Amino acid sequence: MEPEWYKPFKVKVVEPIRLLSRPERERRLREAGYNVFRLRSEDVYIDLLTDSGTGAMSQAQWAALMQGDEAYAGSRSFFELQEAVRDVLGFDHLLPTHQGRGAENVLFSCLIRPGAVVPNNMHFDTTRAHVLHKGGEPVDLAIEDAYDPQSPHPFKGDMDVQKLEALLKEHGERVPFVLLTVTNNTGGGQPVSLSNIRAVSEVAHAHGVPLFLDAARFAENAYFIWEREPGYREKTIAEIVKEMFSYADGALISAKKDGLVNIGGLLALRDPELHERAMEQLILFEGFPTYGGLAGRDLAALAQGLREVLDLQYLHDRVEQVRRLGERLKARGVPIVEPVGGHAVYVDAKRFLPHLPQREFPAQALVVELYREAGVRAVELGSVAFAREDPDTGETVYPELELVRLAIPRRVYTDEHLSVVADALGAIAQRRDALRGLRLVAGSGPLRHFLARFEPLSLHGHGSSGLT
Ligand code: F0G
Repeated sequence: MEPEWYKPFKVKVVEPIRLLSRPERERRLREAGYNVFRLRSEDVYIDLLTDSGTGAMSQAQWAALMQGDEAYAGSRSFFELQEAVRDVLGFDHLLPTHQGRGAENVLFSCLIRPGAVVPNNMHFDTTRAHVLHKGGEPVDLAIEDAYDPQSPHPFKGDMDVQKLEALLKEHGERVPFVLLTVTNNTGGGQPVSLSNIRAVSEVAHAHGVPLFLDAARFAENAYFIWEREPGYREKTIAEIVKEMFSYADGALISAKKDGLVNIGGLLALRDPELHERAMEQLILFEGFPTYGGLAGRDLAALAQGLREVLDLQYLHDRVEQVRRLGERLKARGVPIVEPVGGHAVYVDAKRFLPHLPQREFPAQALVVELYREAGVRAVELGSVAFAREDPDTGETVYPELELVRLAIPRRVYTDEHLSVVADALGAIAQRRDALRGLRLVAGSGPLRHFLARFEPLSLHGHGSSGLT
């Protein structure tokens, strides 16, 4: 039977926001070098830069904060979190970190040596950068449908198991572990099916290689399994989450997403020997093993968040709100990645601005225009974030997907806020031909998108430098 859906919370604390005038927004853009990471958040009206650490905590989480045990060693809050990780994720060994990339650093320091090859469905930017930092080579093995923004595949986050098999046959001894990102953020917040997690696990284990889930959005992934995968409608989200992790040897978790907290991360492991080695790295980079990079109160709020996020009503409300934004955008002629993912709507900038070549950063140009139009901040996931230099030819290789992500913070904005976003993009769609590209004037390397600066190209498509 379908449960009856209702909104499972109301607002208790109010945070004021403001909308600057258009000339003020234009000035802020100029000062920020046309990079919205450089804007002050008080100058942003609706902030869809990320769903990471931007959610609203529940009253139970705020109450848990007050109960945090701030002991350096043996904190009660750590043991509460350990119990939540055992109950919810099913791992015995837990290392708390300041956020997801802290967990990446600790695990990768233990396992990646120069020359290593790390397969994933798709690496997120910090994960890719961490693999490279340790001398490894990140390899993306998502199924073909993941690269087609219009393919209706229900589990576009799946890994291509045959490609994985081939890679392990060829480079098996160089592969320290397989990663699987649930949901696949870079590919549009797309879910990975349980059958794929199981198959990837079997193939990896057959080659003696462990599997780790990069599981920032594990609960949203579980919701999609509940919704779409045959045989899972009768299961609870808690059961599905448990099964997802049961096929993995460990998990890297940015708790700033489905942990429902503003800061925090987890490295969860099965192998006691790896846990010992990881603890040494943890002490070096993050902190003593019973607090990692966090305050006791953060551990307490996270323990509560991990349990809270399993609520089917909450997940339905969350995923449907994101989907409604997608529907509104489609109705206004804005091309989006479909099906809509769990935490964000991704606008397909290649189809939105077909007159702009990738070297003129169409997705970034759209991000800039959206702030100019309505004070809305989105994020580019396209040629600014993912273009790379071919090591042999020195030529720039542009990514297949050129996207603008509208990430929805959890429990923060109402549908009224999101209709402002849909109307703004709809208005831009009306005059899309007039949009011009950008020229990169500062920024390099795999993390350049955070700090880059741009200049608008002139009306004739030429930059002030005269570059075509
Ligand atoms: N893995 C995935 C899939 C992520 O989406 C992120 C962060 C990380 C790892 C790193 O975690 O930020 O806590 O260090 N994603 C954020 C985003 C930043 O905006 O999507 P972190």
